Amino acid sequence: MSTALPVRADLVGKTPYGAPQVTDAVQLNVNENPHGPSPALVAAMAQAVAEVAGTLNRYPDREALALRGDLAAYLSARTGVALGVPQVWAANGSNEVLQQVLQAFGGPGRLALGFEPSYSMHPLLAAGTNTGWVAELRGPGFTVSAEAAVAAVERHAPAVTFLTTPNNPTGTATSLDVVRAVCEASAGMVVVDEAYAEFSALPSAATLLADHPRLLVSRTMSKAFALAGARVGYLAASADVVDALRLVRLPYHLSAVTQVVARTALAHTAELLGTVEQVKTQRDRIATELRALGLTVVPTESNFALFGPWPDPAATWQALLDRGVLVRDLSSTPGLAGWLRVNAGTETETTRLIDAVSDLLRGDPP
Ligand SMILES: Cc1ncc(COP(=O)(O)O)c(C=O)c1O
Repeated sequence: MSTALPVRADLVGKTPYGAPQVTDAVQLNVNENPHGPSPALVAAMAQAVAEVAGTLNRYPDREALALRGDLAAYLSARTGVALGVPQVWAANGSNEVLQQVLQAFGGPGRLALGFEPSYSMHPLLAAGTNTGWVAELRGPGFTVSAEAAVAAVERHAPAVTFLTTPNNPTGTATSLDVVRAVCEASAGMVVVDEAYAEFSALPSAATLLADHPRLLVSRTMSKAFALAGARVGYLAASADVVDALRLVRLPYHLSAVTQVVARTALAHTAELLGTVEQVKTQRDRIATELRALGLTVVPTESNFALFGPWPDPAATWQALLDRGVLVRDLSSTPGLAGWLRVNAGTETETTRLIDAVSDLLRGDPP
């Protein structure tokens, strides 16, 4: 970034989010669902877009009421918690939801707290909204204990605390006891980022919403729902929290096209979530087969796994790419030296990964 520009002083020297995009490799680096929509779903989406295309001279429903209703129905069915439109908010990916949360509840003079290593966008969103960022390191096995989390909240008095479960990039889940303890200790907002919840057996923090008015549960359609390209994230919280987010959202932030595509996907929930078991099978296969090759794989409840340790992770990342497989090098992240992360692919893609790692360990040329 040119230093000649009068960019905000607090942004100088920061690096944008930037997982490499290499389209001619097997792409296992951004935790997507590898299964594309079925021809029937593609046709349904095309039909829905065609119907809305004739109305694109008009702004979309600013409150996305129909979509929020569908999301509320999905989340209620999934978690057993009765949620309606007033308790559910949607935006362009959960990244935008989280940004709105920090716009509404963070900002200058306020702190956000996270337990790292965790999702790298949380501190970037804090920076973008001029919210201070403070991180505590996770404990053994990348876990967060109630004692450590409560002590951190008491020490920093954050306006917003992030708990990510299952956590990215470690795959570790955090129990509801910890969430409850953090809510009880916090005067600020507590965001449970459940982007990967559908891959885990643990109950959702949505089950705690009734008792904790400052709790927010954020979710996405980018992972289990296999809809990363449509950019739809959402959140469940009290109606007051949703009203606060409406103060900072851009008018008409969710396009009419986005809204109908997401609604069509939700109408095909059974088909889309039908891929979750296949993804989990490949994730477990990665763990079993890489361990059989002598590597350590961190136990995971998500659709990805950390594997290593590698003496030179950057060289291993490149060597895997030379073999046509794109994984994520997070080894420069504090606490992750030596580790690479890979998400489960289709069976064929996962075989490519395992073969590539095995070739590499044998010293075979690409
Ligand atoms: C923990 C976590 N939260 C949120 C997101 C953002 O996802 P999206 O903006 O696609 O909903 C991601 C994406 O990787 C993630 O890993």
